[in-house]
Amino acid sequence: MATLISNIKQLVGVREESKLLKGKELSALPCLDNAYLIIENGIISDFGLMKEIRDPKSKIENEIDATDQFILPCWCDSHTHLVFASSREEEFVDKIKGMSYEEIAAKGGGILNSAKKLNAMSEDELFNVSWKRLNEVIKLGTGAIEIKSGYGLSVEGELKMLRVIKRLKEVSPIPIKATFLGAHTYPLEYRENHKGYIDLMINEMLPVITKEKLADYIDVFCENGFFSPEETEKICKAGISQGLKAKIHANQLNFSGGVEIGIKLNAVSVDHLETVNGDIINKLANSQTIGTLLPTAAFFLRMPFQPARQMIDADCAIALASDYNPGSSPSGNMNLVVAMSCTGMKMLPEEAINAATINGAFAMELQNEVGSITVGKKANLIFTKPIASLAYLPYAFGSNLIDKVMINGETI
Ligand code: NIG
Ligand code: FE
Repeated sequence: MATLISNIKQLVGVREESKLLKGKELSALPCLDNAYLIIENGIISDFGLMKEIRDPKSKIENEIDATDQFILPCWCDSHTHLVFASSREEEFVDKIKGMSYEEIAAKGGGILNSAKKLNAMSEDELFNVSWKRLNEVIKLGTGAIEIKSGYGLSVEGELKMLRVIKRLKEVSPIPIKATFLGAHTYPLEYRENHKGYIDLMINEMLPVITKEKLADYIDVFCENGFFSPEETEKICKAGISQGLKAKIHANQLNFSGGVEIGIKLNAVSVDHLETVNGDIINKLANSQTIGTLLPTAAFFLRMPFQPARQMIDADCAIALASDYNPGSSPSGNMNLVVAMSCTGMKMLPEEAINAATINGAFAMELQNEVGSITVGKKANLIFTKPIASLAYLPYAFGSNLIDKVMINGETI
């Protein structure tokens, strides 16, 4: 069945082929004014200018008029912890009263608090709450997503999370990538026995993950008080030997060495990057690794935003993601991520949209399926409400400007 979308005010992110955008390239967002788009079997089969439309009527069974509307490729959210048991707003209040993220973690809050709740929840219940969140972010325009484990921190808990992600993959209308983050923090009983927990991950968790094909990537929270660069390297190498590529939590709170290890391991991405300097930025720019920025996490933790401008000027490839999780970014709203990157990090709207679509797709190795308006890619599309210009999207950050979201050519 073919669907024609006609009279599109502006079709955004049109590309003949997919290329990871670095530095200055990030500001070029190719668009077509007064355009059409044809979808067949959920896939973009043609697009162009209305005035050049070639006798489409013969095969069209469904026509949608998009007068006054912009159409964008859906957001590609390449870093989330969407599978978790429940929210942690009590810590949010503790933080307002003056406690730091590290202090909350040290008293058994933070990630350990989430792990306790997750281990007490059944797999079915965990699936149900996660499925609800997934559907919520799809309605907000997310058309591909990465989801991490890391709130289990026990063999059973980590496998439960990854099996939930696998079940989500099976029923989700959007592509999902799974990441094993057993190394999110040391469980209390292994606080003084790091080797014991690393052995547990490598010898007890990874073999099952490999056997059941539960993960695409391996991640480590490389941070002072969490996992050292040496531990990060050891854990990632064990995953890499099982066919998983690395995606690393790096330089969030300190100069943790995470970026350097990520580059050394040829990681797909190093994520967070609140704490970097010119030297680290240059190393990243000269590597194949994407720097994924998570502005809503910096915002929620009241930290300085990531130096996106400096990174773009140095020729880095950057992606934007939500970091959706109960501790540091309890929002999976990519519209807000895009707005915040313009306001807080001085990214241009075009740069932000590219970083949240095509470069996000690259950060999940999904660039052949999603991330741009390209013939052969999935028709995962955001239809805006009538707006005057593209810049209005991040500008009017508090308004819901999405009219509808289409996934595989079907309106959600
Ligand atoms: O990406 N930084 C580590 N992990 C999460 C936060 C986890 C939590 O507080 O639950 C993050 O920000
Ligand atoms: Fe994270």
